[in-house]
Formats: sequence, C-alpha cells, structure tokens
Amino acid sequence: MPSPSSFITTLFLCCFLQLYLAFAGDPFVFYDWTVSYIGASPLGVKQKVIGINGQFPGPILNATTNWNVVVNVKNDLDEPLLLTWNGVQHRKNSWQDGVSGTSCPIPAGWNWTYQFQVKDQIGSFFYFPSLNFQKAAGGYGGVIINNREVIPLPFGFPDGDITILLSDWYTRSHKDLRKDVENGVDLGVPDGVLINGFGPYRYDDTLVPGGISYQIINVEPGKTYRFRVHNVGISTSLNFRIQNHNLLLVETEGSYTVQQNYENMDIHVGQSYSFLVTMDQNATTDYYIVASPRFVNTSWDRATGVAILHYSNSQGPASGPLPALIGQDDPSFSMNQARSIRWNVSAGAARPNPQGSFRYGDITVTDVYVILNRPPELINGKWRTTLNGISYLPPSTPLKLAQQFKVLGVYKLDFPNKFMNRPPKVDTSLINGTFKGFMEIIFQNNDTTVQTYHMDGYAFFVVGMDFGVWTENSRSTYNKWDGVARSTTQVFPGAWTAILVSLDNAGIWNLRAENLNSWYLGQEVYIQVVNPEVDYTESSLPQNAIYCGLLSSLQKEQSHKFDFSMGSPFCSNSRVMLALLLLVLIESFFFSMWSVVL
Ligand SMILES: *[C@@H]1O[C@H](CO)[C@@H](O)[C@H](O)[C@H]1NC(C)=O
Ligand SMILES: *[C@@H]1O[C@H](CO)[C@@H](O)[C@H](O)[C@H]1NC(C)=O
Ligand SMILES: *[C@@H]1O[C@H](CO)[C@@H](O)[C@H](O)[C@H]1NC(C)=O
Ligand SMILES: *[C@@H]1O[C@H](CO)[C@@H](O)[C@H](O)[C@H]1NC(C)=O
Ligand SMILES: *[C@@H]1O[C@H](CO)[C@@H](O)[C@H](O)[C@H]1NC(C)=O
Ligand SMILES: *[C@@H]1O[C@H](CO)[C@@H](O)[C@H](O)[C@H]1NC(C)=O
Ligand SMILES: *[C@@H]1O[C@H](CO)[C@@H](O)[C@H](O)[C@H]1NC(C)=O
Repeated sequence: MPSPSSFITTLFLCCFLQLYLAFAGDPFVFYDWTVSYIGASPLGVKQKVIGINGQFPGPILNATTNWNVVVNVKNDLDEPLLLTWNGVQHRKNSWQDGVSGTSCPIPAGWNWTYQFQVKDQIGSFFYFPSLNFQKAAGGYGGVIINNREVIPLPFGFPDGDITILLSDWYTRSHKDLRKDVENGVDLGVPDGVLINGFGPYRYDDTLVPGGISYQIINVEPGKTYRFRVHNVGISTSLNFRIQNHNLLLVETEGSYTVQQNYENMDIHVGQSYSFLVTMDQNATTDYYIVASPRFVNTSWDRATGVAILHYSNSQGPASGPLPALIGQDDPSFSMNQARSIRWNVSAGAARPNPQGSFRYGDITVTDVYVILNRPPELINGKWRTTLNGISYLPPSTPLKLAQQFKVLGVYKLDFPNKFMNRPPKVDTSLINGTFKGFMEIIFQNNDTTVQTYHMDGYAFFVVGMDFGVWTENSRSTYNKWDGVARSTTQVFPGAWTAILVSLDNAGIWNLRAENLNSWYLGQEVYIQVVNPEVDYTESSLPQNAIYCGLLSSLQKEQSHKFDFSMGSPFCSNSRVMLALLLLVLIESFFFSMWSVVL
C-alpha cells in the first residue's frame, strides 16, 4: 500500500499537472466587451451600427503567441449574438470558435465569457459577429498575435502598427439586408466602402457629399509602418493601394510571406494582409489610401473607400484623381497576383500545420473533396445556396453540444466528396474528417462572382488555382513547395482553387463561404475531427456553456445583473486559480521533501 504522504503528493502533483496543462504558465489578457447598437453616420445618413464598448469598429484584441485570452462579451443587442475569431485556431478547443455549430448563441441581455489560448500562432486576424447578418452592421475589430520576444520578426521592427478594416457598406439595416437576401433580392451596389468605420474623403465633389468624416492615418516622414489590412465586408472584393507608396507584403493570415513589393493588392472578403509601408515620399501633399471594388463597372464608382495618409510635415491636402486601378476587368491579373504570394519557408515563426513540417508537398493525401458551389436557387420555395448540392441547416442544438451529450440524430457525417447529380437539399450533413489525415479540397466556383472560403481551426496550404474545371491532371500545376498557409482563399468565378490541410486539430470546425450572402443562405459545412485516443490536453465542455435546443433544460437562469465596473470576477477567479497553483506547487514541494525524508 502506498504511504498516505506519497498518495497526497501524487494527488497534488496530478492536480498541479492538470492546472499546469490548462494554463501552461502563459500570460492572460482580459477584455470586457459590451456589444450594443450605437448611432453613427459613416456615409452621412444616420443609422444604427454595432459597436463594442461604444466604439465602431471595436477595440483591437492584442496578444502574443501562447497567451490566454479571456473576453467577457455582454450582448446588449436585441437579438442573439456570437463573436467569431477569423483565423484564430483555438487548438483543440472548438468550443470557443463562436459559430452556430460550436456553442449556443448568447441571448439578448446575457453575457458569455470566451477563454482560449492563441497557441503556436502569430499574425493578423479579425473578429466579427457570426449570426443573423450582423456583420453588415459592424461589430468587427482587429486581432493581433505578436511574435514571442525570443522569435525575431523576419524584418526590422516597424515604427508603428496600423490596423485598417475595409468593408462594403449599406445604409439599410442588417435586418433589411438579410430580408432581401432571404427573398432572393440582389443587394445591389453598396452605398459606400468604409475604412475603419469612416466614409470616403471628398476626393470628388460629384461622387462624395460634403460633411462626411474620413479616416486620417498620421505618420512621420522616413518611418516604416506595418499596415494590417482586412476585408471585413459583406461580399465585395476590394483593391487596396496607397498613392505613391509601395506595399511590401510580409504576412498573410498567420504566415510570413516571401517579401515582395506590390503597387496594390486585391483583398477578398475575409482576407487579411500585413504590408510594410515606408514614408519615403516628400510631403508636398497628403496621399490617398484607396479601397475600390474589383471586377465591376462605373455604376460602382460611388462605392470607393478613401482615407488620407498624412505626414506630420505635410504641406497640404491630397487632390486630383485617385491612383488608377490596374486591370479592372481582368480576373487573370488578380489570379496571377494571388499566385505570386509565397510562403517564406525559412522565416522563424509559430508554424502552421503540420506543426514543424515544411515539406507539405511530400505528405500523402488521405481524403479528397471537390466542393462545388452554386449561385442561389429555390429549394422548397426558399432561396438557398449549396455546396455539393447541400444547403447547411443549423440545428437548434449546436453540433459540439450534441456530440458531447451524445444526442443522436442532430447531424449526419455523410457530406459527399463531390457534386452529386441529385436534387439540391437542405440538411445538416458534416464532413467526417480523419484525425491526422491530410485532406485535399478543391473549391470549384460555379457562381458568377468571386467567392472566398474560410476554414476555422486550421491554416491550409493554397497550392493552386486556375480557370476552368478542375481535373486530376490539374495536380501537375500545384505548388508543392512554398504555397502560403492561410485560412481564407478566393475562388474566381468559373475557376477552381486547391488547398491542402493537415487535420491535426481535434474538434468540429466550420468551413464556410466568407461572402455573407452566400453563407447566410447555407453555404457552409462542418468538419468533425475526432482524436480516437483520449487526449487530456483537449479542452472539455466549458463550465459556463450556455444550453439550448434539445439540451435547454440544462440551462440555469442567468443573473442579468452585470457590473463590469467591479472588475471581471472571471479575472479574480483566475487569480484565485493562480494562487491555488502556487499553493499546490509549494505544498507538493514540501510533501515530496517529506516523503524523501520518510
Ligand atoms: C500590443 O501589445 C504589445 C505589448 O504586448 C505592445 O507592444 C503593442 O504596441 C500593442 N500593439 C497595439 C497595436 O496595440
Ligand atoms: C457574465 O459576467 C460575469 C461578470 O460580470 C461573470 O461572472 C460571469 O461568469 C459571466 N457569465 C458567463 C456565462 O461567462
Ligand atoms: C525570409 O525570412 C528570412 C528569415 O527571417 C529573412 O531573412 C528573409 O529576408 C526572408 N526572405 C524573403 C525573400 O522574404
Ligand atoms: C516633391 O514631389 C513633387 C511631385 O513628385 C515634385 O514636383 C517636387 O519637386 C518634390 N519636392 C522636393 C523638395 O523633392
Ligand atoms: C453595371 O453593374 C450593375 C451592378 O453590378 C449592373 O446592374 C449594370 O447592368 C451594369 N451596367 C453596365 C452598363 O454593364
Ligand atoms: C468517420 O471516420 C472514422 C475514421 O476516421 C470512422 O471510424 C467512422 O466510422 C466514420 N464515421 C462515419 C459515420 O462514417
Ligand atoms: C456551372 O455549371 C453548369 C453545369 O452544371 C455549367 O453549364 C456552367 O458553365 C457552370 N458555370 C460556371 C460559371 O462554372
């Protein structure tokens, strides 16, 4: 029989190990966010936008590789809310992903605390509300994951860090917009393109009315800034450029790229890029920062985002025409630009999947999915969009909860690996992923506009894209060496894009159209990835989980009293946890001394 002391020591060590694994000694960062409507007139028309702590766009979430992030979100909207973290991987923890399949929505008036670790990641991402077309009203903001100090940046440390959020924008409310989408009504030309929540600078009196506030980016001559530019909009591909300034591309969605100069960059919905921009021009005037819609005609001219780059020694305002857009009608220009973006395979960073592996081209593919999207069509009298003929139906019980509580019949694992010649249907059909498998997915765009597809939980290698229909022979054109690892890729109309992804992150992960109108009508699927072995480092059901659907009887009443001014009790909870950890450490030390003496 073990002595009681060694038993207690083991117990404490176990306890310590579990706490240690849960927190791994990495720092915490805490945010308290209240999400509510605020009044704003970005295009000169008063409207209700979604703000966070009264700000639009919301605050930047700023963390460092491996930090633990705690965000207490209070929903002060009049409808359910979930925030999702575009590109943040939530390793082994899809509970925190903030999409309809992973947790119940936060009811109006309630709060819910996200807690996740930004494990092995660096880069530029963003968050946004994932339900009910709310993203069209705002609620978004930047996410920055910095390198740990011991890992140098593959470029000089920039003199400043500037987040730029681009979005196509309508003066109609998100509720009106989603009604239109449900009724098959095209949303039409956006009323504008916002830059950081601001309307355009009045570069042309006939196109821009007076009295609109615009974004001014203040810079010092000679300095180099990191611009993190995100397309957080609904459905418009945007061309980003800064008059007379080079964009040195250095990072996209968590991967350092081969550093190359661009005059402009096409940024599709949901995509993020970092550029280094050096203030190397003389300051005779300010300069235009432009985000203009791609592949459209002149009826879209009023929908151009214009901000101002202002040197501290600038001698006057920007004037004259905007810098021209190259290759407006030419998707092959845009595709070639996309193909030129390569991964810097020698840059030190937190690695994308597979962890520590550079040679993705040598890995054997285990599963192939050719996913065909179609433009909206009527299914049982309702406008829907499909992937491989299936329009996703979100169940009232989230997939993760159904899996946890073994509620049968909520979803099926029968998503077809290619387009089936059968009538389209609305269904809750998932991809059955193989844990540690290596999946090839080919997106084939049968729509008439550019679509982007995003996968939660992973970075995937973009290995090829071309016009026409993908065939097995298309594999000979794949980039098997330095395709960039990212989480959102564009698929041009009548074209395909191929990605490779290592399914090493257990969970249920959302694969979706990032274009909001395509997504809202059903263009998404989930991939279930189950580790057949028990993994104690995998996050379990969060203690604060909200219950709904078939499990709603498990939900306790939430006290609606809510006081952030007292400081987040979660914060003090984790302080208690840390104190406990210390105590356990000290005690287990003494106990082990004791057992040595005995
Ligand atoms: C993010 O936090 C780091 C410290 O961890 C700080 O140096 C940096 O300036 C912050 N960046 C932004 C954009 O707030
Ligand atoms: C709601 O916020 C309070 C702090 O105001 C916190 O104690 C509680 O844990 C939060 N609820 C959830 C479900 O996260
Ligand atoms: C790639 O990263 C390395 C290491 O940080 C850096 O020295 C090099 O300049 C980068 N190469 C390119 C082409 O960007
Ligand atoms: C600044 O740039 C303008 C336009 O490029 C040029 O005409 C002018 O001579 C320049 N001034 C100086 C001081 O370099
Ligand atoms: C321009 O585009 C709009 C909307 O995309 C379309 O309705 C219109 O017919 C187009 N006009 C021309 C002249 O092609
Ligand atoms: C899902 O895939 C696993 C292997 O990865 C297999 O054991 C299981 O039977 C599959 N489930 C279904 C429903 O096809
Ligand atoms: C979409 O598919 C149909 C056949 O199903 C084909 O005739 C058409 O050319 C395709 N369109 C595009 C844009 O790929």
